Amino acid sequence: MRESEIDTRIRRIQELMIELKGRTIQKEVEAEAGLSLLDLAMKNGVDWSFSCTRGTCARCRCLVTEGMEFLEEITDEEWDRLEPEEFEEGYRLGCQAIVKENAGRITAANKTYF
Ligand code: FES
Repeated sequence: MRESEIDTRIRRIQELMIELKGRTIQKEVEAEAGLSLLDLAMKNGVDWSFSCTRGTCARCRCLVTEGMEFLEEITDEEWDRLEPEEFEEGYRLGCQAIVKENAGRITAANKTYF
């Protein structure tokens, strides 16, 4: 295989990965449809803050800087817990942000309030 083909394949794999940045650990993980960003962080050993896992504590709040379109719609729990400006800035609740089928690259960092 030629070097350019290898580069292209590596780039395509990277486009399908999710970059999760926890409190101290950052990892590239495989996208899995139907799992939340928090599920993926826990499954892959990323130290992502959480408590309730049902959209009320906001400890799992995160800033999505890439690939918001590959996450399912904002849930009622998120509308109740976050401010409209936070959505405009790209914040979601990690326990509520579900990865869509055939997702492309997503980048998210855990940003709790405290
Ligand atoms: S873990 Fe509590 S809102 Fe997500």
